[in-house]
Amino acid sequence: MDEIKRIKELRALLSEANRRYYVENNPVMSDYDFDMLLKELEALELKHPEEAAANSPTKNVGSDLSSREFERKAHKYPMLSLSNTYSISELEEFAGRATRMLDGKSFNYSCELKFDGTAICLRYKNGVLESALTRGDGSQGDDVTENVRRIANIPQKLHSAGGSSQTDLEGRSQTDIPAVFEIRGEIYMPYKAFDRLNAERAENEEPLFANPRNAASGSLKLLDPVEVGKRGLECTLYHILGENLDFQSHSEALQKAASWGLPVSDKSKICKNIQEIEEFIAYWDTERKALPFATDGIVIKVNELALQKQLGYTSKFPRWAVAYKFQAEKALTKLVSIDYQVGRTGALTPVANLEPVQLSGTVVKRASLHNSDQMELLDIKIGDYVYVEKGGEIIPKITAVELSKRCQDCLKPVFPKTCPDCGAELVRDEGEAKYFCPNSYNCPTQIKGRLLHFLSRKAMNVIAGEATIEQLYNLDLVKSPAQFYSLTIDDLLKLEGWKQRSAQRFLSSLNESVEVEFERVLYALGIRYVGEATAKTLARYFKNIEALAAADREALLEVEDVGETIADSIIAFFKDEKRLQEIEALRAAGLKFSLEQKIESSEILKDKSIVISGTFSISRDDMKKLIESHGGKNSSSLSAKTDYLLAGEKMGPEKLKKAQKLGLKIISEADFMNMIASPEVAKDAGAADKAVVAAAAEDAGAADKAVVAAAAEDAGAAAQTKNTKQIGEQLSLF
Ligand code: IVH
Repeated sequence: MDEIKRIKELRALLSEANRRYYVENNPVMSDYDFDMLLKELEALELKHPEEAAANSPTKNVGSDLSSREFERKAHKYPMLSLSNTYSISELEEFAGRATRMLDGKSFNYSCELKFDGTAICLRYKNGVLESALTRGDGSQGDDVTENVRRIANIPQKLHSAGGSSQTDLEGRSQTDIPAVFEIRGEIYMPYKAFDRLNAERAENEEPLFANPRNAASGSLKLLDPVEVGKRGLECTLYHILGENLDFQSHSEALQKAASWGLPVSDKSKICKNIQEIEEFIAYWDTERKALPFATDGIVIKVNELALQKQLGYTSKFPRWAVAYKFQAEKALTKLVSIDYQVGRTGALTPVANLEPVQLSGTVVKRASLHNSDQMELLDIKIGDYVYVEKGGEIIPKITAVELSKRCQDCLKPVFPKTCPDCGAELVRDEGEAKYFCPNSYNCPTQIKGRLLHFLSRKAMNVIAGEATIEQLYNLDLVKSPAQFYSLTIDDLLKLEGWKQRSAQRFLSSLNESVEVEFERVLYALGIRYVGEATAKTLARYFKNIEALAAADREALLEVEDVGETIADSIIAFFKDEKRLQEIEALRAAGLKFSLEQKIESSEILKDKSIVISGTFSISRDDMKKLIESHGGKNSSSLSAKTDYLLAGEKMGPEKLKKAQKLGLKIISEADFMNMIASPEVAKDAGAADKAVVAAAAEDAGAADKAVVAAAAEDAGAAAQTKNTKQIGEQLSLF
């Protein structure tokens, strides 16, 4: 086999093996076979350095993600959206407006399904797929070409309607395919592929996609094209663009596109008037439920291209098209029973078990009932017929009870008084919607839930599924997060199905996790109501766990986004002796409980000698580090060779006098921060000199703020103010 081809095949094989190994805990090959194939790939890559790829399994052991970002590229034609409507009368308005603007010229409408996926712009050159851009912000999109190449129904090469071998009399190939054109459409994930993906993710304890659209856009942005290829994505194209295209109508253009092998919907219809449009809508409002993919409406377009041109665009939408959106689908089904589930924080959630019912392409068997208040509000009874809807969330919700179908013997559910898992009496704090199991330290579900959360991707990022946690817990190996860090290979070999390699990988993953930054460690601790974003805010605000633990209610409420509930939860957390012991044990294991000093570096101050004087908003040591990290030299005494005197508060008057005498540039802390934030300002340093000197001269202990204010007033200081803010944010990390 061709060696290049073999490299690609091996990468695909090994990535898949890794994914199955790491993510699914379900290896597809022996360790030996894996290592042999990896060696073969390493040897081939050495032989073909031009084939090097950052995301090769030889470079990224154990991860299917690489750090590659998508390149942003400008759209040739802006990628606009459609104006939406949910009402027929607004559709009539659209039709009326178009008729008026077209001075009564007769025209047709192309009515099409509105595919619920993510928009894509394909560019073909000489019949070959050249690029694929996402919508991005409409003027530029992410280049996802390599991923799109893996989508089965998108052709890499087009074929002319009469066959690609057609030639003219001179032997030149004849084609009706424009030399260059763009075609836009939707990439979506059919229900089957979506269900399969979510089932896989549920098994791997990965977050589920809420709907096929999210799954499609998430998949399209994966950094591993091989994985994209496995996601079962499909594409339908609905809009051709290009220079000098020789089509009279939209439908003709799409027919041509279909003849070249491009995927175009066969469900579109030409309608002559609003009645026909309404019939089309009514038909698909029902029939769409039987389609194998999600549609969220109907798109109505003026079919004649010359008239489309005449109607033109607003800044956001074409005036020649409109989207009619369907109402969210509802299903009526029977409530069989209610489960009460305990989460890691002890909160109890009632979950309805339903008679399976088809809803938006998937079979729904369970729906959330949120809490006891919601159950009361719905006046729900076991045996009732209930309406189920899919919101943006993963779990569908019950929105109403069909009282006309209520049976005689329907029973009012009894909300439990004790934890269904450990039997502890449930509590409900004032103002809380949910009941809680207070037995945090002995309720097995809560303990396992906390362990799982601690290791999760956004927390310590150690890959472990529910089954692993279950085993570690049942074997009495881990009951609290800190115990993960004293696990040995021998401990892990006790787990069913675990071998040296899996144990070793788990331990190295744990070892790596001690490098996880403070904000994620804080999130991993699982303080009630402290999600990822709040943990980040708290970490940045308090900078270390001691300061957070010492903060009283008032201090906590000072923090943006922290309300009473979060504040009380944090206080309760740090009052708990066991939690404090746990933190100490984690600290002993090497975890980070304070923010790292992040110093940006550059060469902006290369060869510059800087003397600092006075005090700054950061320590003098940190200021020296900052100078050095930007290539400058910190000197202790002023001389003619000094480039800048960095003037802080309470600067010695002698130093100021000497600097003035030597004619040195005197800069404030704010000037300095601006300089290191922007090379332009650095080149320009000294522009604010006058203000600084004036302020400094007035008071040798010139307050920084005054200097900043003076500088900000200076012409062109707006940019500096922005920089000061950015640097201020950076500085708050010190
Ligand atoms: S035409 C200039 N046709 O829906 C606008 N869009 O909500 C060209 N969509 O941005 C778009 N099915 O991503 C068009 N048959 C269809 C569509 C469709 C789905 C998407 C498209 C658009 C969004 C608006």
